Parts: sequence; structure tokens; C-alpha cells
Amino acid sequence: MSTFESLGLSEPLLRALAAENYTQPTPIQTRAIPALLNGRDLLGIAQTGTGKTAAFGLPLLQKLSQDRVRPAPKSCRALILAPTRELAVQIDQSLKTYGRHLGLRQAVILGGVNQNKQVNAMRNGVDILVATPGRLLDLVKQGHVRLNQAHQLILDEADRMFDMGFIKDVRKIVALLPKDRQSMLFSATMPREIVELIGEVLYQYERVEVSPPTVTADRIEQRVIPVEQRKKRALLTHLLADPALSRVIVFTRTKHVANRVAEHLEKAGVVSDAIHGNKSQNARQRALDGFKAGKVRVLVATDIAARGVDVENVSHVINFELPNDAESYVHRIGRTARAGAEGIAISFCDPSEKTFLRDIERLVKRQLPVVPHDLPAEALQPVNIHEERRNYKPEGRNYKQPRHRWNPRGPRRKAA
Ligand SMILES: Nc1ncnc2c1ncn2[C@@H]1O[C@H](COP(=O)(O)OP(=O)(O)OP(=O)(O)O)[C@@H](O)[C@H]1O
Ligand SMILES: [Mg+2]
Repeated sequence: MSTFESLGLSEPLLRALAAENYTQPTPIQTRAIPALLNGRDLLGIAQTGTGKTAAFGLPLLQKLSQDRVRPAPKSCRALILAPTRELAVQIDQSLKTYGRHLGLRQAVILGGVNQNKQVNAMRNGVDILVATPGRLLDLVKQGHVRLNQAHQLILDEADRMFDMGFIKDVRKIVALLPKDRQSMLFSATMPREIVELIGEVLYQYERVEVSPPTVTADRIEQRVIPVEQRKKRALLTHLLADPALSRVIVFTRTKHVANRVAEHLEKAGVVSDAIHGNKSQNARQRALDGFKAGKVRVLVATDIAARGVDVENVSHVINFELPNDAESYVHRIGRTARAGAEGIAISFCDPSEKTFLRDIERLVKRQLPVVPHDLPAEALQPVNIHEERRNYKPEGRNYKQPRHRWNPRGPRRKAA
């Protein structure tokens, strides 16, 4: 059986890993680390929560520390791209933990916050830059960042980086990197359609796939509860009455529904917070940090929190709504059962979502067990939407309650 030492990692890295209680490399680490230390390009595929960050991070840190070149001003020696800001922050933190005895310089570039700190951080150059594509290109255009020294490129959540919204930016960024670079792509899912794109970024690459027969992580117990959309909120609070749901992420498809679910939970007295694209970056990060710290029991999230986000001991993932692309399902439920732990994934399925369910079952190559809910009929009374409308207060400081309400009995008559 291999150890981190036998994989060829240096003493300062071994010391950091021991402090983190990483006693043994995971399968993807065992296979990827030697190949990457040898300078190969690599496509790494392994289930959620199996340590892909260290699989690319450890060899990266080792190579950068052995080959001590001063980074040029505004440049980086290695570039890591991630699809969300929270993930970029998390990767940066992980690499700081693994590399804490190496003294390498790191910076993070992401959108949604003021750019000045990021520009300053890049002024003298860094060893490792973790970035989201949009803001990175922006700073490149402004002349604050140069990429012609980035001899290592990592795309985390690679298949997502090749999605419609990202591909143009990623192509532009890759075109700015030196040709003689080492590149690696990692993800838990790798749809066949993107093989061509992989060829654009990788050169004579090694494919390391550690996927047992299932795409989804082994230790997740999955089930589906058929329930009408309008009854989902009542079912959610019913399930949350069980304290076994100790740390829960509830996924919705839209920001709007995420907000409504969070409001519903608040009314029901469940400590929760929401993370989605309509919130300021600071509020997003605060929600995630509060959840990580255990101050918040339920995090209501859109798919921006579906990929890569690593929170210890998430007991349950609840799909309040099924995602419309099947890969997202794999990533969402992979927020539980990480690093050898176990977890439960419950998916609410309205009749209109059955096609999504079929797509998911095709991808994960199995039928998900369907269990009826055990709610008494009266508990499932749909929320009274008239009541809700009356209490509805849109956000925004200029909103005034309307002075006149529509009177269903007709206009008030003048007294005779
Ligand atoms: N060898 C190891 N021993 C113990 N714990 C580990 C080891 N490698 C990684 N971990 C821990 O496992 C957790 C998951 O790691 P990581 O986030 O890298 O997974 P991932 O494969 O990137 O998952 P995802 O597909 O969701 O992004 C982290 O908390 C990490 O600290
Ligand atoms: Mg990851």
C-alpha cells in the first residue's frame, strides 16, 4: 500500500499532511501524484469528496518549491481556474494548508468584490494564482496580470469550465499561457461531449479515472420522495423536525425559490441562510462560512454551491427541486459523504420533474429508490397563498405598502 512518502513527496509537505491527519493517500492521489511529479499532463476523474484538491495541489506545491524561480511582477507560475468564487477561495485555503512550510506566494482573483486588493496582491508576482475566469480576464485586459509565465495550469471542475458560460473566457485565458506548460483537468464528472475540448488544453495526457461502477460517491444513501411542488415546503419542515438532519444543504433550481424556502424556514424557526447569485459576494461567503462553522443548520443554495464546496459532516443533502442537468445532481449530493464519511441525499420530485429524474438515473446508471412521505394529510395543507401575498414585502428600501387594498366586496359605499 502506498504512503504519501512513497509517492515521492517532500518532508515539509509530509509534515503538513500529518498535521491534517491525512494518514493515507486516496486512490486518485495515489495515481495522480506520481504522474504529475513526472511532468505529465493529466485528466483526473474521481468521485466527489475523494481528495482531488490534494491530488493536483501536492505535486504542484512540490514542483514550485523545488524549482525556486522568482515570479515576475504581475505574473504567476501556476494558474488554477475554478467555476465559482467560493471554490476559488477554498482551493486557495487548502493549498495554504498543504504548503504552509514552503513559503510560496499565493493570490486569489474573483469577481463581485473590489479589485484593488487583488491588483496589489499581484504587483510583485505570485507562485500560485487561483481565479475565476471573468475577473481574471478583466485584470489581464487592464494590464494588472500577465499569464505568460504560468507554466502550470489546472482546471478544477473541468467539465463545468467547458460549459457554455465559461468556454469563451477559458479559451482566451489558455491562449495567453506558454505552450510548454503542464496542464491538468479534474472533475467528478466528465461528459463525453467535451473530449474534443480536453484535447485543446491537454497535450499527450494521461487519463486517471478512479470511478468504481458508480458515478456518485459510494457512501451516499439516495432516495426520491414524490411530492407536489406546492407541498414541498411543508414536507421540508416536517423532515427537519428530525434532529438527525444536523447539517443540511437544501438545493433549489432558482434564486427566487431559494429565497422563498429560506424565508419559510425562518418562519418555522429553523436556523438557516441562503447562498445564491443575487446576493453580494460578502453575503455569499458569510453564509457559507456560518454554515461551515456550524452556526447555521440549513444552507439553502442554488447550484453555485453544488461543486467542489467542502464542508465537514454534512448529514443530508435535500434536492428541494431536481436539477435540470444530471451532472449537477452528482455534484450536489456529493456535498455529503466526503472524506470517508456517510450521508443521505433526499430528492423531492414533483410530477413535472420526472424527466429530470430519468436523466439523472441514466447518468448514475441505476434506479433511485422511491419512498412515499409519511406526512399526515392535514400537515400537507398547501401554504395559504392569499395570506402570504398579504404579508409579502419586497426587498428594497423604497418600497411602500400600498395604501389601498383591493376589496373583494367591491368599492366602499358612501354612507347614506
Ligand atoms: N488523503 C486524505 N486523507 C484524509 N482526508 C483527506 C485526504 N485527501 C483529502 N482529504 C479530505 O477530504 C475532503 C474532500 O477533499 P476534496 O475537496 O479535495 O475532494 P474532491 O475530490 O475535490 O471533491 P469534489 O468533487 O466535491 O470537488 C477534504 O475535507 C479533504 O481535507
Ligand atoms: Mg474538488
